[in-house]
Amino acid sequence: MTGGDEYFLGCRRAEQERLQRQAEQLGPEAVRLLDDIGLPTGARVLEIGCGPRGCLDLLSARVGPSGSVTGVEKSEEAVVLARKFVAERGIRNVEVLCGDARSTGLPRASFDLVTARLVLVNVPSPEQIVSEAVALARPGGAVAFHEVDWAAMICDPPSPAWNTFVELFVTQSAKNGIDPFVGRKLPRLLRSAGLVDVRVHPIIHVHPPTDPRRTIFLNFADNLRERVLAQNLMAEATFMDLKEALRQHIDNPNTLVVHGPYFQAWGRKPA
Ligand SMILES: C[S@@+](CC[C@H](N)C(=O)[O-])C[C@H]1O[C@@H](n2cnc3c(N)ncnc32)[C@H](O)[C@@H]1O
Repeated sequence: MTGGDEYFLGCRRAEQERLQRQAEQLGPEAVRLLDDIGLPTGARVLEIGCGPRGCLDLLSARVGPSGSVTGVEKSEEAVVLARKFVAERGIRNVEVLCGDARSTGLPRASFDLVTARLVLVNVPSPEQIVSEAVALARPGGAVAFHEVDWAAMICDPPSPAWNTFVELFVTQSAKNGIDPFVGRKLPRLLRSAGLVDVRVHPIIHVHPPTDPRRTIFLNFADNLRERVLAQNLMAEATFMDLKEALRQHIDNPNTLVVHGPYFQAWGRKPA
């Protein structure tokens, strides 16, 4: 296992900007999750691995001025950007801390909701983060995760470049001790950590030609480039040719681009 402790997709500025755009794009499904959980105003919430934005603004609006939101994030660059994000919007009930979600040092049993999105798919031993999340929730509180599963990263018509990138991504994940199929395992992880009343939403995205998330694979290819070349898995020219073939396939408006499934799973800590 190599480098499994870093954020798998890297912390380059371009990746941070992609995450901020993605947070906007995934907003509606985050809101739906909060509706289903029934998060009340005044609640105390922790977002794990909030990145440069995450759901901090949505959570802030949901809990209102009498509530509070804490973000805990490992990347210092992301913490700076998240703090800037909330400051620029005049959001006052959010604080962002730099720390490791596996051992936050935050008070146990103190949050009404502990939540994370697309964090477990980036870390080895995801159960450690789930366990910390459950420990931080108060008895009767909720714990919610939103994760991806690479089962249906598909396109039509088929494309060898697309298939090669999926394979590369899955292989690289495994090499780093990361499970790209963690999404389907969420309900089991939550139950094993002691949560009850576990519920699940599957989400699948079909990205039409105008959808900015249609090109997410190209972003992933950029993020993987250094690792692939450093490990001599592919010559740079071959990598660039494949990426160009992928770009052309995605650019073709007749190509069906499907990403997912994503799973939102949440449960309650027994009172
Ligand atoms: C794909 S990004 C998702 C960001 C945010 N949750 C969102 O959905 O917009 C994953 C984030 O998890 C953070 N992360 C990974 N491992 C972590 C850990 N052990 N503790 C805290 N944050 C972590 C990364 O630094 C990165 O910002």
